[in-house]
Amino acid sequence: MTQPTPAVRDRVLSLLSGELPAYVYDLADLRAHAAAVRAALPERVELYYAAKANPEPEILTALGPYVDGYEVSSGGELAHVAKAVPGRPLAFGGPGKTPDEVTAALEAGTERFHVESEHELRMLAELARRAAPGRRVAVLPRVNLPVADGSLASSSLAMGGRPTPFGMDPARAEPVLRQLADGAYPQLELRGVHAHLASGLQAAEQVAVAESVVSWATGLGVPLREVNVGGGMHVDYGDPEARFDWAAYGAGLARLTERHPDLTLRIEPGRALTAYCGWYATEVLDVKPSHGEVFAVVRGGTHHLRTPATKGHDQPCAVLPVEAWPYPWPRPAAGTGALADGASGRVTLAGQLCTPKDVLSRRVPAAGLRAGDRVAFALAGAYAWNISHHDFLMHPRPGFHFLGTTG
Ligand SMILES: Cc1ncc(COP(=O)(O)O)c(C=O)c1O
Repeated sequence: MTQPTPAVRDRVLSLLSGELPAYVYDLADLRAHAAAVRAALPERVELYYAAKANPEPEILTALGPYVDGYEVSSGGELAHVAKAVPGRPLAFGGPGKTPDEVTAALEAGTERFHVESEHELRMLAELARRAAPGRRVAVLPRVNLPVADGSLASSSLAMGGRPTPFGMDPARAEPVLRQLADGAYPQLELRGVHAHLASGLQAAEQVAVAESVVSWATGLGVPLREVNVGGGMHVDYGDPEARFDWAAYGAGLARLTERHPDLTLRIEPGRALTAYCGWYATEVLDVKPSHGEVFAVVRGGTHHLRTPATKGHDQPCAVLPVEAWPYPWPRPAAGTGALADGASGRVTLAGQLCTPKDVLSRRVPAAGLRAGDRVAFALAGAYAWNISHHDFLMHPRPGFHFLGTTG
């Protein structure tokens, strides 16, 4: 079982039952991790944070010293990030941008647009003529490139290299890039190419993807200043202590920058930056047997932490025992009396929703788990609260705690 940092553990144990569940973020841990990621990358690689992974203002601020900018994928994210970290460079991406969002982004002076289609390019040019007269807006068409066989092998979420609604088909992207380079859109400046092909890739796969994208982009012979090779660095929910091999990835990117001295490379990870600093902490409400297995029902559930339901995994967790028991009757505890689960000592941790899908972790080795104990779920700092269906069943919202806000 993975263990929370001492600061997280102390906070979780200091909260009253009624203050749980709670998201507890260790910002000192986040800063140390982000600094290590930055240090592993070559100087000429820009690091943008994909705000969709976790847009809490405290998280965006804590990452500030380590990132070169932020990738936003909606008008809502754009306005939110611009307010939380004013003056920082933004790249506006994402499919299905509306005219209102594009106009607002132009009026806000957004540095870069990742353009998803020809229609979007034309709309951007027209809206730029009206909303930003005299300004040339930097664009990076997003390309859905085929990649070498096996390059996306470990991907949990492939957005490219196959038919998807993301980016432009390379057969269309090529003429579009040439038109941009030839000045067909006077309001737009071809700054480079963007590709985010998949999430959940290991370092060697990420290097292979970056090489394919850079080789395709530079092979066109049109002048480009930047290539954004996306995010999608692997986070291992089965082994929360494991980390993406940033050193190997940095070394691969360094080789690429040496071969292309005039090109700025950019990456835009989300999950692999913020997953580790966040914990979803709760209390066991009940423990009971069911058809030979033991279930613990905790305060909260997948309406707060949807990640295990969407990704189909067991969220790693730690049990924090609590000795106090306020009732005169015996405390329900796994592994005792009717709750002796054969030899397995395993407990399935479910939430409060009226659906069998509300399971946070299956068959966790937690012999002796009691009602009243606390459980802290790890890797809850990315695609967790902000992707969850908060209002289903109208349970109270969790508390939010940001530890180590200074320093
Ligand atoms: C365009 C784009 N960039 C970056 C990311 C971040 O991906 P990850 O959080 O897996 O690093 C995503 C995720 O969907 C994305 O769509």
